[in-house]
Amino acid sequence: QTAQLAFTQHRSANPKSAAERSAILANPGFGDYFTDHTAVVDYKVGADGQGGWSNARIEPYGPIAMDPAAAVLHYGQEIFEGLKAYRHADGSVWTFRPEANAARFNTSARRLALPELPEETFIESLRQLVSTDVDWVPSGDGEALYLRPFMIATEAFLGVRPAREVSYRVIASPAGNYFGGELKPVSIWLSTSYARAGEGGTGEAKCGGNYAASLAAQMEAEAQGCKQVLFLDPFNDNAIEELGGMNIFFVFKDGRLVTPALNGHILHGVTRSSVMQLAADRGMKVEERKITIDEWRSGVASGEITEAFACGTAAVITPIGELKTADGTIASPGSGTGEVTMAIREQLLGIQTGGLEDLHGWLTRL
Ligand code: COI
Repeated sequence: QTAQLAFTQHRSANPKSAAERSAILANPGFGDYFTDHTAVVDYKVGADGQGGWSNARIEPYGPIAMDPAAAVLHYGQEIFEGLKAYRHADGSVWTFRPEANAARFNTSARRLALPELPEETFIESLRQLVSTDVDWVPSGDGEALYLRPFMIATEAFLGVRPAREVSYRVIASPAGNYFGGELKPVSIWLSTSYARAGEGGTGEAKCGGNYAASLAAQMEAEAQGCKQVLFLDPFNDNAIEELGGMNIFFVFKDGRLVTPALNGHILHGVTRSSVMQLAADRGMKVEERKITIDEWRSGVASGEITEAFACGTAAVITPIGELKTADGTIASPGSGTGEVTMAIREQLLGIQTGGLEDLHGWLTRL
């Protein structure tokens, strides 16, 4: 596949009215509302055994007609991405490091035996959808249009093998704070009955199954009054891995920033890697390494660990107020809204929303 696919446009005959859209944008929340259109590209393996992408299009947002035997419905052959479109003060719309998401999408595709999508098609699909639904890009503080590219196996068959018909799609959803309301430190529950990933598993792929598998633990968390769950690796000294839907960082009093190393189990977060760069720019010493739950507990007790935060495209950077565990709570010092956490958050959001200079060339205009 060499030539860039051209997207055809099929506009919705009944988009939301300006009044309906404004009412949604006044309080977008996270993930509850969708724009008027969707981007779609089909993939099929032909009689000659060659696969190819075709029929790139923008079409009205709506239900997907699928055969009940479609492979995705049975074996979960699915991957997804998450990134955002930000409105700058001059009205222009930008996205953040889309090449990184395109590359991760293809890494996930290989793990789930799905076809790779050319980076140009990935980025063009975002550009086409966002330009069609540009009025849906919010401009409020901490708000953006969340973009959700995904790929599903649509071929109808029940044998377990990679599907020969696949659909790539993008939907868009105006987004405020992932955790709802104003930003405040979140409480996290430590799962000890479930693990998120294992050696050789799908932990670093962004596939729906990883998130489905986190839900039982997430329910435990909610029963404890917590908003997210933390997973450990029980086969590696209870090393900290990640949260249900975000990566984790620790700020040390001596100016170090520590995050679990990418060990094959952990999602290669785009926000994670951006945070590491911004922290290094601030003169912090960034360590990607094994950090155990015992080190978190003793580090807080000794005063060595001063802040903990969660990060992701959806979560941005959210301070962790406390970790509740079956053996007691590890509370972040102070209010939990650490200074370093908030400074890195402001810096990241500043770059994304155009208020600060994009020194690393992270923005792409849509
Ligand atoms: C994201 O941060 O974009 C995610 O994909 C996490 C979650 C909302 C599934």
